[in-house]
Amino acid sequence: MDILMASSSISVPRGTRDLAGEEAAAFVRLEEVSRKVFQLHKYSEVRTPVFESSELFKRSLGETSDVVEKEMFSFLDRGEREFSLRPEGTAGVVRYFLENKLYLKGSYHRLFYSGPMFRAERPQAGRYRQFWQIGAEYFGDPEATADADTVFIVSRILSEFGIGDFTVQINSLGCNNCRPKYKEALLQYLKGKEKLLSEESLKRMKLNPLRVLDSKEDGPKLQDAPQMKQFLCADCADKFRRFTGLLENSGFKFEENPKLVRGLDYYTGTVFEIVSPVLGAQNAVAAGGRYDNLVEFLGGPPTPAVGFALGMDRVVEAHFLNREKTGVEKSLIDTCCVIPMTEEAVKLAFDLAQMLRHKGLAVPPVQSYKKKLKNQLSSAAEIGAKWAILIGEDEIKAKYYSVKNLVTREQSQVAQGQIFDFVMPTQ
Ligand code: HAM
Repeated sequence: MDILMASSSISVPRGTRDLAGEEAAAFVRLEEVSRKVFQLHKYSEVRTPVFESSELFKRSLGETSDVVEKEMFSFLDRGEREFSLRPEGTAGVVRYFLENKLYLKGSYHRLFYSGPMFRAERPQAGRYRQFWQIGAEYFGDPEATADADTVFIVSRILSEFGIGDFTVQINSLGCNNCRPKYKEALLQYLKGKEKLLSEESLKRMKLNPLRVLDSKEDGPKLQDAPQMKQFLCADCADKFRRFTGLLENSGFKFEENPKLVRGLDYYTGTVFEIVSPVLGAQNAVAAGGRYDNLVEFLGGPPTPAVGFALGMDRVVEAHFLNREKTGVEKSLIDTCCVIPMTEEAVKLAFDLAQMLRHKGLAVPPVQSYKKKLKNQLSSAAEIGAKWAILIGEDEIKAKYYSVKNLVTREQSQVAQGQIFDFVMPTQ
């Protein structure tokens, strides 16, 4: 077979993409920023497998959630056991918490994770089949302070990464005591509106009526629907009041959204979503909330828990769109090209490049001295280099470097011993 012909027809799978260059660098920076914030809030990292038993996701996210019903990438292994690529991170972290009996090893556990998630959704801008999340889960704390802390963590990550413009939407989904009463009232209300509803909503009505509220198509027709807030029991209402009080007290901007119900079944109490105004239809950059029943439901002791996940693809996209608006992006380290002009200069150039990297400058590989100087300088400009250090016969003889500032176009002769002070004056 003609190998070239065969490989040219292979493309990246639908709904997935390659991350490279500026975008890959932004992903790394987002992870670095997040790690710093997690450290400040005393979270430690956990890395769970990218696939788990399908049963785990079915039981955690709910058999009737869109994710489990339509979007899992599932497969049988050689022993006919069914696994799925993880569609989200919470279920795996809870499995880890239970399997390692962390509940016996201290009252509180705070874990964060990052990595690819997989959902077989219909691809569109901002919605991928392989996407990346950074998330965190806090086990053991039932207080409103834990909910507020979770919202602060995401907001701080977003702000430090350079996304200042976002809205936090919040709601409470109540508990096992008050939610059934609300479900019943909502169902009665929806029964009067059946003629207006799409087939999808009619299906949701049977399986999980709350999810009719977040239907893009039908949600706006249901402005006068009963709200969960009116049905919260005293305990849930008090927790929600304390949560909003903490946000207000810190001068935090948020909006109550009674239609925020979330698509995964494990939520109880506080839920939130953070939306960015610069993104299109898929504008949620992060989301989360409390899931106080999940640990027990999966076989552990009753354990309150709260967490969030941010969508890295969308956060990075929002950052790039923001940057287009503001036009600012500062490079963290300067780049310097070292250009030998004779064979004799190659070794010196190679050593100098290595020393500059040790000092913290970015230096691309030294190019052949046979390459025209003009071409070398334009390659240096292409990668945004600030300096080009030229080494030829004269420079070797008189022990200096010719240093060109590619921004101001000025050229200087710098004694070999002075080079670091010259290109890195603040060192
Ligand atoms: P989620 O709302 O399903 O929650 O996802 C969280 C974030 O992941 C979304 O707000 C979005 O930014 C991103 N995301 C989700 N699906 C896609 C996709 N197909 N393409 C691109 N980005 C996407 C969870 O996953 C929960 N586990 C969050 C959580 C943690 N709740 C408690 N703890």
